[in-house]
Amino acid sequence: MKFFVDTADLAEIRDLADTGLLDGVTTNPSLVAKAGRNFVELIAEICDVVEGPVSAEVAATDFDTMLKEGRYLAQIAPNVAVKVPLTPAGLKVCRTLANEGTMVNVTLCFSAAQAILAAKAGAAFISPFVGRLDDIGQNGLNLIQEIVEIYANYPAFTTEVLVASVRNPIHVVESARMGAHVATMPPSVIRQLGNHVLTDKGLATFVSDWAKTGQSILDQP
Ligand code: E4P
Repeated sequence: MKFFVDTADLAEIRDLADTGLLDGVTTNPSLVAKAGRNFVELIAEICDVVEGPVSAEVAATDFDTMLKEGRYLAQIAPNVAVKVPLTPAGLKVCRTLANEGTMVNVTLCFSAAQAILAAKAGAAFISPFVGRLDDIGQNGLNLIQEIVEIYANYPAFTTEVLVASVRNPIHVVESARMGAHVATMPPSVIRQLGNHVLTDKGLATFVSDWAKTGQSILDQP
């Protein structure tokens, strides 16, 4: 499973990229507003830091303007994935950009039917939002299961399932069990993945027991 970070905070992206565990970045207009930076400059800088796909979302909602914005964003760097909303116009933009060789991430997916349309439109990624479905009392992970199962029936579909709106490690682990290709997570969830109280406790014991040996691995006779 590939890990993307869902943030527009460049310092966080640099920090996570240093771990060698980061495969890409997703941003959205809300995250960009929070970062308070020039969008195009910010995307260019992120693309310098991370080799994998960096999602940059169009701002317009009509076909002509979305297409112009998408083409503009695509020329920032070869690893830009243009993000478009799952609307009829967004899908048409997806088809056009995909035909031009641009990676497209279709976002705001809340049903399996929408995911089928995105695959038919040539999306590189479909972003089903698990957390926002959970928030309204529906089971977000069921949607991931449905999409993974449907896409597996059609080898001609090359669209990757990018699990979005991830709120906790359970969303990540369950999506991985289902075979989702990618999870995009806030930095806090990526860090949470590695935590376990027994790891901390076990390490404290090993450190104190090692001290009793009085030895140093690097200081040998
Ligand atoms: C994904 O591409 C979106 O940016 C993101 O995952 C949305 O998450 P949220 O529901 O926590 O805002």
